[in-house]
Amino acid sequence: MPNNDDRKTLCDEIQRLKREKDALILAHYYQRLDVQLIADIYGDSFELSKKARLSDKKLAIFCGVSFMAESVKILNPEKTVLLPEPSAGCRMADMVTAADVVALREKYPDAAVVCYVNSSAETKAVSDICCTSSNAVNVVGSLKNKQIIFIPDKNLGAYVAKFLPDKEFILHSGWCPIHHGITTDEVKAAKNEHPGALVTVHPECEPEVSALADYVGSTSQMIDFCEKSDAKEFIVGTEVGVVERLNYYNPDKKFHLLTPHTVCDDMKRTTLESVLAALRGEVDEVRLTPGQIERARLPLERMMQINT
Ligand code: 13P
Ligand code: SF4
Repeated sequence: MPNNDDRKTLCDEIQRLKREKDALILAHYYQRLDVQLIADIYGDSFELSKKARLSDKKLAIFCGVSFMAESVKILNPEKTVLLPEPSAGCRMADMVTAADVVALREKYPDAAVVCYVNSSAETKAVSDICCTSSNAVNVVGSLKNKQIIFIPDKNLGAYVAKFLPDKEFILHSGWCPIHHGITTDEVKAAKNEHPGALVTVHPECEPEVSALADYVGSTSQMIDFCEKSDAKEFIVGTEVGVVERLNYYNPDKKFHLLTPHTVCDDMKRTTLESVLAALRGEVDEVRLTPGQIERARLPLERMMQINT
């Protein structure tokens, strides 16, 4: 970890190079706080995809994991997209392959395939429409098909299904190792430790955990809920970066991480040093073939067209 003087030198150099190269830095809320604080654009998966499109900068440094950087590239093929830590993946995205989707389609020919953006470009390419945790209910609700194949997150799928009882869901068996690991016992213990605090969790948590929460929402929706609420104390069941951010920007409120194990190692790979190295051109750009971009773009574009 850099000390404060080193951190300032690093941040100054990042800002200088960013201006010189006319680059845009994007960071997901699960990034280390010091990385979030040097970003021009921050947000959850959906916001980052939307906001990247609004910028005319040609160089995007994406602080997050590979499926997110791929989405930015797919929606902005003219931009050079750099992922400072190219090995930062997503264990949930790796749980489903394009071949799995093709097999499910054969089994359920009348179903629409809804693909959570936490998936590879190849998986998106064989899906009908994408969704994120903030728009999944609206996306599925917009479809005419009664049968919905929901990939890869079974917990998000189950959460969406609760709002759309007329649909028939075929849930893939994927899960996020960070959110799925939160238990009902941990929620109860956190409530005992902080009586009076409101509980908010991400829909990637198990349904039994979500059922104990005062509010369930995507990363941005959780942040909004906490910041707009009159309550002063919260138990937050998601990745630690969100709690660090909430405590940093809301010193008049208290935010407790529901359990200490919600740390996504892949999200934490990116450091100020790796952002600087990316700006210096020391990492390869995110490369997808024109064919991969074309095939994966349609389901993402369909999602973007839904008013969420
Ligand atoms: P959101 O950013 O859509 O809330 O997704 C959570 C997540 O796990 C991202 O990796
Ligand atoms: Fe993937 Fe879960 Fe990490 Fe998000 S928090 S990148 S879904 S493993």
